[in-house]
Amino acid sequence: MSLKKQMDSIYSKLSLDEIPWNIESPPVALKNLVESNWVSSPSDAVDLGCGAGNYAIWMASQGFRMTGLDLSSNAIELASSLAVQKGVECRFKAINMVEAIEDLDNAFDFAFDWEVLHHIFPENRECYAGNVHRMLRSGGKYYSLCFSEEDPPGFGGGGKLRKTPLGTSLYFSSEHELRELFEPLFNIEQLRTVEVAGKKAPHIAVEVLMSKREIYRNRNGQH
Ligand SMILES: C[S@@+](CC[C@H](N)C(=O)[O-])C[C@H]1O[C@@H](n2cnc3c(N)ncnc32)[C@H](O)[C@@H]1O
Repeated sequence: MSLKKQMDSIYSKLSLDEIPWNIESPPVALKNLVESNWVSSPSDAVDLGCGAGNYAIWMASQGFRMTGLDLSSNAIELASSLAVQKGVECRFKAINMVEAIEDLDNAFDFAFDWEVLHHIFPENRECYAGNVHRMLRSGGKYYSLCFSEEDPPGFGGGGKLRKTPLGTSLYFSSEHELRELFEPLFNIEQLRTVEVAGKKAPHIAVEVLMSKREIYRNRNGQH
């Protein structure tokens, strides 16, 4: 089954409480980025793989003009109704981040993805990172966090490839892989392995703070 079908099924069949990653309050790391002014509002920001929209909605409440994107149209429906319930203005759109994206070039000052990249396997990651790069304006900031290969064996088994009880397949990254992925496109300000609180138990993850690197092309369109 495709990841989109799996995610659509999870977001339609499980309650928000049952979705293993759905936590209403924003991660401490995201709060810190806002409180320390690493990113400041008002500005245009995008939550990539926004799920039920909790963090996009929180960012909107902090004064950001927010867009949330997700592969799953059911997630987008949930996020849109949650924003209405909370009386917060937020735009949500179903988009697959590993396909060509036409209409969001230079649209944002800040992009973040929280626990999304471990769903994207190495063969699709260059496309994903290229899309993020194009979406950001000059000097735009990007925060990314995904599961680390150092996460001890747990809910999905052990090793780099894990299969969760929900049937999704995850790829657990090393710091080196993320550096190789992002460095051609972004200036990396910080890359480190951290522990993050989970809904049931903490996880070991790799987080990267970066800003858009300008890439100049020659007349043949090459870098
Ligand atoms: C583990 S969930 C995290 C959701 C949200 N960031 C949170 O922390 O609540 C991963 C999310 O990434 C989305 N996703 C996975 N691959 C994607 C892709 N290629 N394009 C857009 N969204 C994707 C999934 O649909 C899912 O909602």
